[in-house]
Amino acid sequence: MSQRTHASLIGTRILLGISGGIAAYKSAHLARLLKKAGAEVRVVMTEGAQAFITPLTLQALTGEQVRTSLLDPEAEAGMGHIELARWAELILIAPATADLMARLAQGQADDLLTTLCLANDALWCMAPAMNQAMWRHPATLENARRLEKYGWHLLGPDAGDQACGDVGPGRMLEPEAIVNELLDRLTDTGSKPSGLAQHATDAAELTITITAGPTREPLDPVRYLSNHSSGKMGYALAQAAVERGARVRLISGPVALETPPGVERVDVESALEMLEAAQKAAVDSDIFIGCAAVADYRAEQIAEHKIKKSSDEDALTLRLVKNPDIIATIAQSAVDSRPFVVGFAAETRDLERYALDKLTRKQLDMIVANDVGRPGLGFGADENAALLLWRGTENEAAPGRLELSPQPKTMLAAKIIDTAIKRLSATDEQSSCPSSQVT
Ligand code: PMT
Repeated sequence: MSQRTHASLIGTRILLGISGGIAAYKSAHLARLLKKAGAEVRVVMTEGAQAFITPLTLQALTGEQVRTSLLDPEAEAGMGHIELARWAELILIAPATADLMARLAQGQADDLLTTLCLANDALWCMAPAMNQAMWRHPATLENARRLEKYGWHLLGPDAGDQACGDVGPGRMLEPEAIVNELLDRLTDTGSKPSGLAQHATDAAELTITITAGPTREPLDPVRYLSNHSSGKMGYALAQAAVERGARVRLISGPVALETPPGVERVDVESALEMLEAAQKAAVDSDIFIGCAAVADYRAEQIAEHKIKKSSDEDALTLRLVKNPDIIATIAQSAVDSRPFVVGFAAETRDLERYALDKLTRKQLDMIVANDVGRPGLGFGADENAALLLWRGTENEAAPGRLELSPQPKTMLAAKIIDTAIKRLSATDEQSSCPSSQVT
C-alpha cells in the first residue's frame, strides 16, 4: 500500500550524525543499510557517541573517514566543516539524545555535529532515543516541537522495553524502520525539502475546520447521553494548524480546555448543533477534520421536565434515533467545492479494516485510525498513536498509509496536519493536471 517505490536513496549524500546513547550500537547497522540502499554516507560522531561505539567501526562500514571534532586541523585540511555541511543532501541523526535535541533547539553550535546542522539547509531527520521519563519531560517535548517548527522531521521514537529496564516511549526506531521513514520523507518532499517551514508557508493560505470533544444528547432538562472525549486531540490539531499559519475554526463540544490562541472557537452541545456549525464552516474551508466523538444516537423525545423515578418499574426504556453523520454529510456535499475531508476512526479491534471501511463508506479523503482500547492512549489521555490512511490520486500507484507510534497528542497532531496539507496539495495538483498528463 505504501508509495515508497517512488523514492530511492541511490546516490543520496547522507551525513549520519551519532550522539551518545546506548542505541548508538544500532547506528553501525543503520550505516550498512544506507550504504546497501545506494547512499553515500559520511559519519560525524559526538564525544558521547564514542563511549558507545568506535569511529573505526563506522569508518570500516562506510569506507570514509569519520569526523569527531570541530577543531581538528588535519580533518579540516581534507573536507572543511562548511564544505561537509554543503556536501550533505540529508542529515540523519540517529540516535538523537535529549541533550543533542536541547542543543539543536537552542541553535547551539558547540561541537562539530551541531555546527554542521546550523550550516546545512537540506533535509533534516532525527531518530530520538532516550529513557521514557526523559522523553516525556516537558522540556524535551517542547524541544521536539521547536525542532519540528525549524524543519526537523522526527522519526519515532518507538515505545516498548528500554535498555534501562523501563517500558514506554523513547526507544530509537529500528534501522530498517528509519530507512523506510527516510524513503517516505523523500517521496513526500521530492528529495530537497525544507521540512515544516515549507508547510507553514503553504498553510498560511488555508482555512482549516476541526470538530473536537464529545456531543451531549439531552434526555431531559438535567440529563444527557455523552462519552469520554476530553477534546485534547482536537484542540492539539487546532493548535498545530494555527502554528502553521492557517486560519483555524474549532467546533467544540463541551470540554474543559482553553482555546489555543488565534483559533476561532464555536461552542456546540448536541450532534444536530455540531452539524449545523460544520455545514456553515465547511463552505469556505480547505480542510475539514472530524475529530469529535459524535453520539451516534439521540433521544427521540426530550422530556420537558425531569424524568421521575417510578416506584413501580425497575426498568426505564429510552427510545433513541440515529443522529446524522456529520463528516459523511460534509464529504458527500457538492463535490467540486467540498473541502479535503479527514475523519477519525475510534476502534478497539481490526483497526485497519474498520478504518478503511469508514474511509470508503463515508467518502473521506483521509482517515486517522486510533485504537481506543490501548491503555494510556485515546480518550482522555495525553498521548495517542494513529494509523493514517488516504486515497491515492490517479497519478499515484496506490493508497497511502503512515503509522505513528505513541506520542503526545500535540506531536501527533502536528504530523496529522502536515500529512493532510501534503495530501491536499497532491489532490490539487491532480485536479489542475489535464487528463492527458495523468498516468
Ligand atoms: O478527545 P480526546 O479525549 O482527546 O480523545 C480523542 C478521540 C479518541 C475522541 C479521537 O482521537 C477520535 O478517535 N475521534 C473520533 C471518535 C469517533 O466518534 O469515532 P467513530 O469511529 O465513531 O466515527 C468515525 C468518524 O465519523 C469520526 O470522524 C467522527 O467525528 C465522525 N462522526 C461519527 C458519528 C456521527 N454521527 N457523525 C460524525 O461525523
